[in-house]
Amino acid sequence: MKEKIKVKVIKLIWLFSNKVSKKLKISNNNSHGLDNTDYDQYIAKEVIDILHLEPNQKILDIGCGKGIIADILSEKYMKIVGIDFVNNILNKSKKYNFIQSNCLNLCLKNNSYSTVFSYSMIHYLSKDMLKTFFNELKRIVKPNGKVLLAEIPEKKKYFNKYIYAVKCNVLKKILMYIYLNFFYQYFIHKKEDLISLANEFGFSFKFFKQDSNLPYSYAMYHILLEKK
Ligand SMILES: C[S@@+](CC[C@H](N)C(=O)[O-])C[C@H]1O[C@@H](n2cnc3c(N)ncnc32)[C@H](O)[C@@H]1O
Repeated sequence: MKEKIKVKVIKLIWLFSNKVSKKLKISNNNSHGLDNTDYDQYIAKEVIDILHLEPNQKILDIGCGKGIIADILSEKYMKIVGIDFVNNILNKSKKYNFIQSNCLNLCLKNNSYSTVFSYSMIHYLSKDMLKTFFNELKRIVKPNGKVLLAEIPEKKKYFNKYIYAVKCNVLKKILMYIYLNFFYQYFIHKKEDLISLANEFGFSFKFFKQDSNLPYSYAMYHILLEKK
């Protein structure tokens, strides 16, 4: 019950923060890197490489947001399902299916996916929620199935690099700084916490770091879980 209320509050903050970021033009509607769509392609390629994705593989994207990654992956003829608790998807090629669902209570059968990824979503989850999410992952992922979680560990460094790189006037940069550092919903999850959750829920794990030359992304890390 308490968690349900927390999720509702986070959902409202997310909707509000979307509206503010649209007004300030902080985030581009169809790209992770403002006007840099190459960056989206890079991220999608990273997901493909780390998970060794193949055409026609069944893939689940949890916290798919506007569906930018799902959209790119679906062009590679993969069977993608994107899940998010907010229906915010862009209707680009939309060759993937969208399900509106909370990651803490996924409307999916037990052992239903071998390949799952969640890009930049776990910062929405408090420590307790992250534990519930791992429990859900354990339930829906098939034995030997893989889960890729991608997240930024330190919001200050990441956001500051992002603000520095954005092309806009100083006033907008200051507003962005205030908004991203003080109002944007963000829970930092330490590497040790993720390792202990992986162990608790029966996943082996491996960490990957992104190429530090990429725009905005030097602090991003990936954890690849494999259900034992
Ligand atoms: C920063 S966006 C990332 C979107 C997408 N993965 C991407 O990289 O473009 C995080 C997404 O997680 C979703 N999200 C947050 N908490 C969630 C929850 N409890 N259940 C489902 N989706 C959630 C938000 O609605 C949002 O769309």
